[in-house]
Amino acid sequence: MNAGIDAISFYTSRYYLDLKTLGHARGVDPAKYTKGLGQEKMGVVPPDEDIVTLGASAAKPLMDRTRMEDIELLLFATESGIDQSKAAGLFVHGLLGLSPRCRVVELKEACYAGTAALRLAASLMARTPGKKALVIASDIARYELGSPGEPTQGCGAVAMLVCANPAILALDEEAGFHAEDVMDFWRPNYRDEALVDGKYSTRVYLQTAVNCWTQYGERSGRKPEDFARFCYHLPFTQMARKAHAQILRASGGPTDAETVARGIQEGLGYNRVTGNTYSASLYEGLASLLDGCEADLAGHRLGFFSYGSGSMGEFFSGVVQPGYQQHLLTQHHRKLLESRTELSFQAYEDIFNLKVPTDGWDYVFAQYCTGPYRFGGVGGHKRRYEEVS
Ligand code: COA
Repeated sequence: MNAGIDAISFYTSRYYLDLKTLGHARGVDPAKYTKGLGQEKMGVVPPDEDIVTLGASAAKPLMDRTRMEDIELLLFATESGIDQSKAAGLFVHGLLGLSPRCRVVELKEACYAGTAALRLAASLMARTPGKKALVIASDIARYELGSPGEPTQGCGAVAMLVCANPAILALDEEAGFHAEDVMDFWRPNYRDEALVDGKYSTRVYLQTAVNCWTQYGERSGRKPEDFARFCYHLPFTQMARKAHAQILRASGGPTDAETVARGIQEGLGYNRVTGNTYSASLYEGLASLLDGCEADLAGHRLGFFSYGSGSMGEFFSGVVQPGYQQHLLTQHHRKLLESRTELSFQAYEDIFNLKVPTDGWDYVFAQYCTGPYRFGGVGGHKRRYEEVS
């Protein structure tokens, strides 16, 4: 198979909370967040953004790079679903004006669903040269105020065009994967905030990473030195350091801080300032790596570990394609992150406590700063989206 990522675009909300502000407000040493968890800022969604607007805004810059009628598949991965029935991707399909000849579906398995979407899309596109899939992973990480998970909140979406003979990353066939029925993180339908057994969740993540890596190694014969860099699912950036050290240890290699950092460092930058983006976080890490790595990665292999609580893990890989730099949106991504507005602690809590009304009456939402699309209101139990002029 020679199929994979042809274009990649990242989007996050226009607002953030500095974690030093959160630390002062909660009476916690901010170093716990900045050093212990490895996070600086967390993205906060205003009331008129949701997974649809985040996802559509991530996808929009990719629409200039392809013919709409070539997109025959839209897979939308999320664990912050807005409807029990209708796929969020259909709202995006409408906003982007995609062709009716397009299969659209929503996928869920916590933070792993983006990987399921990518691999399914690549398998299908390998057999339909000339056609493209639009894969969107979009999420809002939300934990209770004052809980240990609060500093790891965040929001963002990644959109990828997937096709045969891709311009950025060709996926390898081999993969190691591992499923297990555990309750480390979950969100019942009646709750807006996730429930998490945080310490247990990090243990399951690490054990799953080793299981997947071991299986991948047995199938591919590859060792850590066969990879230029590694990208990990990033609930917070220190998690990647722990996971990479575990994988190196399982392979009998050195696990000093310098070796660990060399394998992962450039992939952490975006997540550090957006917080957890759940299903998008691994691919946000890839965008961060490709945009930020000074070395030419062309022809080099990257390793990926995807983890979704509940739990599902997969280690897979891909080879960076010659000339990939010309297909990146590096300046666009940097501008997005540099042009955000910092919120006060009070403003953050006020936004957090706002809820989408559920009584079926007509509501028009106040306009905040958003990307090209916004969630304008609700009426008759239907969500209304609009383009920002
Ligand atoms: N300065 C520097 N580091 C500090 C510190 C300080 N003042 N205070 C604490 N730390 C370090 C701790 O030593 C720890 O590092 P370590 O894990 O390397 O030992 C880290 O900061 C976190 O501290 P801890 O006390 O373990 O945090 P916590 O009990 O508040 O919760 C999580 C941490 C990750 C469990 C919590 O944020 C969470 O539940 N997150 C959501 C779920 C999640 O992300 N799961 C991951 C798998 S997907």
